[in-house]
Amino acid sequence: MPADTPSPSAKNLRGNRAALTHKAGYALRHPGRVAPYLRRAGRDTWMRLRHPDHVGYYRAVMASDTRRDPEAAVGSRSHDRWLALGQMQFDYLVEHGLRPGHHMLDIGCGNLRGGWRFIEYLDTGHYYGIDISPDILVSAKKTLSERGLQAKLPHLTITGDLTLDFLPSDHFDVVHAHSVFSHSPPEVIEECLSHVGRVLTDTGFFDFTFDRTEGTEHQVLREDFYYRTGTLLALARRNGLDARFMEDWEKRPHGQSKIRVSRAVG
Ligand SMILES: C[S@@+](CC[C@H](N)C(=O)[O-])C[C@H]1O[C@@H](n2cnc3c(N)ncnc32)[C@H](O)[C@@H]1O
Repeated sequence: MPADTPSPSAKNLRGNRAALTHKAGYALRHPGRVAPYLRRAGRDTWMRLRHPDHVGYYRAVMASDTRRDPEAAVGSRSHDRWLALGQMQFDYLVEHGLRPGHHMLDIGCGNLRGGWRFIEYLDTGHYYGIDISPDILVSAKKTLSERGLQAKLPHLTITGDLTLDFLPSDHFDVVHAHSVFSHSPPEVIEECLSHVGRVLTDTGFFDFTFDRTEGTEHQVLREDFYYRTGTLLALARRNGLDARFMEDWEKRPHGQSKIRVSRAVG
């Protein structure tokens, strides 16, 4: 997966990374990245054959990446960057109204890059992290003990889909999915958007990041998906949610964009 890019100006909003011309130009500019890409493409083909369903496939990607380095598996090239990315998620949500008494659901919580800060901040038992990858959840538990946060009793749960059917209605003030839909095909995003309204409180909101394109929607291998903002806003609205693009997130040094959805009023 591409690591989080360092600055908004680095966003390439028009390129189609799946196009042969793009790949050829990229290879010429970055010859050192050709061999790793080919290794990844080989792994992709093998995993596609073994796991025709997306969740099974991505779980296998995470198992392989986490074995090598859990922090790189969630998209951070260094520990400093892992810390900075967690801080960015935390600061943004606190600036947008996250309070200690809130209940939070972190979809695709990974190894708690942002999660440990939320757990530390929220009241005991108020953080709920879910992920499809057992390997990254084992790493999440390590982060939890390294940070000495056991007494905060967070929930860390494996899931096989995003129907959220095991969670209570009208419960979460904040639902969050950072760098998850950037790795999700449309049917996974739709599944989430068609169920998230049920678990949100009346005043709750769901923030998710996505890899934005203003050109043709495309995907790289089955790992990275690029969507137009309008596609995701329309999908949310079709599922009875209010949805808006978060302009102020664009000022943060992060390669993805952010949308906020909430239950539609009236
Ligand atoms: C790039 S990592 C980001 C992790 C965390 N949100 C963070 O910012 O550090 C993406 C995470 O989402 C998980 N994931 C991918 N697809 C998912 C899905 N459909 N449901 C739940 N988790 C998913 C992956 O296993 C991985 O841990």
